Amino acid sequence: MLPTIEWRDPDTVVMVDQRKLPGQEVYVECHSAQEMARAIKTMVIRGAPALGVAAAMGIALGVRRSKATGTHQLAAEFFRICELIGATRPTAMNLFWAIDRMKRVFAEAARNGESPDQIRDRLETEAHRIHDEDVASCRALGANGAPVVPDNARILTHCNAGALATAGYGSALGVVRAARDQGKHVSVVADETRPFLQGARLTAWELLRDGIPTTVITDSMAGPLMREGQIDLVVVGADRIAANGDVANKIGTYTVAVLAKEHGIPFYVAAPVSTIDLSMPDGTHIPIEERSEKEVTHFAGSRVTPEGAQIRNPAFDVTPHRFISGIITDRGLFRPPYLESLKLAFEAEGATA
Ligand code: MRU
Repeated sequence: MLPTIEWRDPDTVVMVDQRKLPGQEVYVECHSAQEMARAIKTMVIRGAPALGVAAAMGIALGVRRSKATGTHQLAAEFFRICELIGATRPTAMNLFWAIDRMKRVFAEAARNGESPDQIRDRLETEAHRIHDEDVASCRALGANGAPVVPDNARILTHCNAGALATAGYGSALGVVRAARDQGKHVSVVADETRPFLQGARLTAWELLRDGIPTTVITDSMAGPLMREGQIDLVVVGADRIAANGDVANKIGTYTVAVLAKEHGIPFYVAAPVSTIDLSMPDGTHIPIEERSEKEVTHFAGSRVTPEGAQIRNPAFDVTPHRFISGIITDRGLFRPPYLESLKLAFEAEGATA
């Protein structure tokens, strides 16, 4: 299993630097909430579920470093840390879900009259729990998704929704791994995923390490490959899923979904239930992160666009639910109409639709 993010005593979080893969396998250490916020913003770590774990560990680090001796003082610092971490990447639902979990733990411990040190321990324990639960969720959703993968499937994926984007195993790539583990022959076509190249760099790297045959294509090659009959299935991850099943995911996902529908290819989204945001009635409400122009104007450190060109760099797009064949979660595979079926995910463990 890939070491995406790990807590090491005393009070250090270690992450593989995803900006440097696959050329260099180097590790970044964070000792404070500020360092973690910077690591999240600059994409040392990325992928919605991994960001949830990073947020929780960043908060745990922050309260560990705080010198507060009273609960009120610790609470003030805790909320400042939550704000700092919450201001890093606006689209990833799991980040806010993890912050909410940490807030609930703080509130309960404070209500019980626990000391600042006990509260610090509780927050660290919760961060470990979020990490471990994420691996278990990926394995569960992998098992729930494997039946939709035919033997010999050529699976197209966009961005990296793998072990590197989670605490381990992956969401979209968890489905691929589970199908392979059930004895199916599978291969993956990875969109390169401009501009950050998560597909070319990260998906290809982790799948090849796992012995899963992988072909990297530029994003614009997906359509012709589909028309030539070389893609059997699309599986992607999600950053946030609205109540009606609209899905925010890496920029370019929408294009893939439209192409898949045109060519009659099933298009699945794989994500843990912690990515579903029932407070968003549809995808138009999901905040879309705009990242630095430099990610578009420069390639490998060199400028590729003329000075003066206007640049847009939305990091995510929204795929309307009508393009989605099913949403694979740790609590089952949900089919349209999502407004009804997704609610089941929150009502009963193991619900299927
Ligand atoms: O900008 P990123 O690399 O954080 O975007 C990641 C994605 O879009 C993933 O597909 C999504 O977070 C799901 S990861 C299991």
